[in-house]
Amino acid sequence: MGVVEVSYNITVPSGIVFNFTNMLGEGRLSKEEVEQALESEGRAADAAVAKLRETGFSKAHLSKDGTPEHVYFPRMPYIKEGNPNTEASIIKLLRYSKRLRHYDVVVFLGVGGSYLGNKVLFDCFGGCHWNANPTLRQGQPRIYFSGNNMDPVDCNGLVFEVQRLGKRYDQLGRPLRVMLVPISKSGTTLETISAFTYFYDVFSKDKDIELDCTVVTDLRADVEKAPLLQLAEKFGWEKFDIKEGIGGRFCVMTDPGLVTMAALGGDIEEFLRGAREMDTYCKQAELHENPALMNALLKFLAYGKGRDIEVFMPYSMHLKSLSEWYVQLLAESLGKRYDRNGELKHYGRTPIVAVGTTDMHAQTQQHQDGRLNKVVQFLEVANPVEEAIVHNPFPEFKLFAQYEGMDMRKNLRAALNANEGALTSDNRYNARFVLPKLNEYYLGQLMYFLMLSVAYEGELADVDAYDQPGVEVYKRLMKEQL
Ligand code: PA5
Repeated sequence: MGVVEVSYNITVPSGIVFNFTNMLGEGRLSKEEVEQALESEGRAADAAVAKLRETGFSKAHLSKDGTPEHVYFPRMPYIKEGNPNTEASIIKLLRYSKRLRHYDVVVFLGVGGSYLGNKVLFDCFGGCHWNANPTLRQGQPRIYFSGNNMDPVDCNGLVFEVQRLGKRYDQLGRPLRVMLVPISKSGTTLETISAFTYFYDVFSKDKDIELDCTVVTDLRADVEKAPLLQLAEKFGWEKFDIKEGIGGRFCVMTDPGLVTMAALGGDIEEFLRGAREMDTYCKQAELHENPALMNALLKFLAYGKGRDIEVFMPYSMHLKSLSEWYVQLLAESLGKRYDRNGELKHYGRTPIVAVGTTDMHAQTQQHQDGRLNKVVQFLEVANPVEEAIVHNPFPEFKLFAQYEGMDMRKNLRAALNANEGALTSDNRYNARFVLPKLNEYYLGQLMYFLMLSVAYEGELADVDAYDQPGVEVYKRLMKEQL
């Protein structure tokens, strides 16, 4: 069979651009090797992911207990009875969103997959001014995160802030209504449970605070071994389910992630529609037009040439936490000692968080001149909703004249173009994704694309992308000390 002519600049129907052109060329990949690999390993990976979609079966995947476990993340975008999201579960989330309007503060407690996606949603659709700005919140509660560390200073900072608000509300003549939301699939994660217990104890004793809780966990768990479920049952707290076959780092499009979208009053259905349309497109596309497969294949082939670091670099402060979410997705999914036949492999790229332009003044020196071991993955938002035009308040100083009329959006793009151009001029691997804008729909498309891409790369590398056995060693050692 002859090889296909591949375009390395894929625009999907929604308008998102996946430009892989700079993964090829001198000192990088050749078209011939990519096109041949696409026909062989690429085709096999595509077939395996098609089977995963259909059956929920991924070769050799076992749960933590060593029993076979389904992988249902490709079903998240489809709202359907029997899938992780159903009409009833979406209605429940929408009701919860309304219910939270009666609360002043929501604290989400979780770590890893039970936190990182939630933080992305908050940063994209709330942002750093959310808690201070009632106009922005439009009746939704203030939102905080904790339980993602065991840092007493951080926990006490939140206690202080909530108690400060409590005193203010007391002066207004009513208690501060606080909702604590522990999110934990296992229901026993130390960070989450200790922070929840700490806050519950402090806040429940505070006369200025009216406390309520919502529990997000595996509702099928054995109640005897599930402390959160026991509490929810005793106190009649609202519960949300973490469904079968949905691993932590793949859960943002189901209840454990969507509860944060509900708190923000964000558009859950648009978020899922974005993911659904990305899935449908990738499913039907020719291999070389499937951006998730191409992304996985190019990075897999680059890894074979020593590029075992991926710098994920959005040019947007709002998207820094997307980079942090991606770190977990890539590191836990693909960083594996053994392949699925039990052979020693030591696979996986090390993900690095970077944000443009900030890290051009911190990391770019390394990316440009350091070891030839990196792929720099740029992410651009083509049309940010806000503009900032600089005016010159210092007309008497000549040097400031050049800033008059300067458009920050244009500057940001120029910086990205320059960074990309500089790396490419030295034959360094890089790629660029472009979102037309940042909203629920496009974020759903992008996050789903990244999850799907990891699924393809798991197939290409023949590693189990859905387990994380490597974390058990430190967990055991830590338990011995507690
Ligand atoms: O991806 C994963 O499975 C992990 O990172 C978990 O999300 C993380 O350890 C938190 O686990 P849990 O939700 O059980 O508290």
